Amino acid sequence: MVNPPNSNANPNAATSATASASPLPSAPLLSVRGLAIRYGAKVALQGVDIDIRPNEIFGIIGPANAGKTSFLRAINRMDEFVPSMRVDGNITFAGRDVRTIRNLYALRSHIGVVFPLPVGLPLSIFDNVALSPRLRGRRQKADLEEIVERCLRRAALWDEVKDRLQTLGSLLSGGQQQRLTIARALSQDPELLLLDEFSIAVDPVTTMRIEEVLKELRQELTIVLVTNLVQQARRLAARTAFFLGGRCIEIAATEDLFSGGAKDQRTIDYLEGRFG
Ligand SMILES: Nc1ncnc2c1ncn2[C@@H]1O[C@H](COP(=O)(O)OP(=O)(O)OP(=O)(O)O)[C@@H](O)[C@H]1O
Ligand SMILES: [Mg+2]
Repeated sequence: MVNPPNSNANPNAATSATASASPLPSAPLLSVRGLAIRYGAKVALQGVDIDIRPNEIFGIIGPANAGKTSFLRAINRMDEFVPSMRVDGNITFAGRDVRTIRNLYALRSHIGVVFPLPVGLPLSIFDNVALSPRLRGRRQKADLEEIVERCLRRAALWDEVKDRLQTLGSLLSGGQQQRLTIARALSQDPELLLLDEFSIAVDPVTTMRIEEVLKELRQELTIVLVTNLVQQARRLAARTAFFLGGRCIEIAATEDLFSGGAKDQRTIDYLEGRFG
């Protein structure tokens, strides 16, 4: 295959640029149709149609209150914990309506989530990562040790914590806790990882380290990356959606968006920092 000239700038760009102009090369992993989200009478999101392809990093950018977090919540059925939240429309994951997946635990084993602030469980570093494998019936010490090491390595945290796995996760720095959260999400072996502004409380160096982790993870899973840093979407995402005021304004290959190819003036204004 011949790479286009810009393929070095974004390793995803080669597939995305061609794919956005032609029919999907493979069945989408996640397919969203006519999604509408309300909190009581307030409409948070409406008319959203998005297909997310296997092994892509799909970026979502947009200013505050655009509906980005609500979108992730709907995918992961978090509305079941928010009494006023109502979700309409269709969300299909690997060909199945997410609402028909037997229970939330089963759904979460396919779809992992990382929130903006690390949510450390009051457990040791080891137990933070071993918790869900244990719940799935993995009990053998050697087995758990292997899983914990693998997940911590994949989250680029292993070298920093390997000598103190029994200390509390909450004693780690913010950036380390965020990577622990990622390791915990990976311990479920998800096919899809939803990341909501993971770098909001993380220093720039750690942010770059986590970005490297995400690029590696793309080989094995699919990532939806909500970010308030448009350059982060540019660095990581094959395609990017721009959300504004509860609508998905535009979806395009990220390189196209950033090289003058945005079609909607509102997208252009946002990318140029004129609001948000
Ligand atoms: N639990 C809730 N109850 C009521 N309204 C909510 C709730 N959560 C979100 N909203 C409203 O839904 C709309 C979309 O919010 P959402 O958090 O999805 O936006 P966002 O794009 O993630 O914003 P931010 O960049 O600030 O995180 C906003 O108007 C918000 O006030
Ligand atoms: Mg949000």
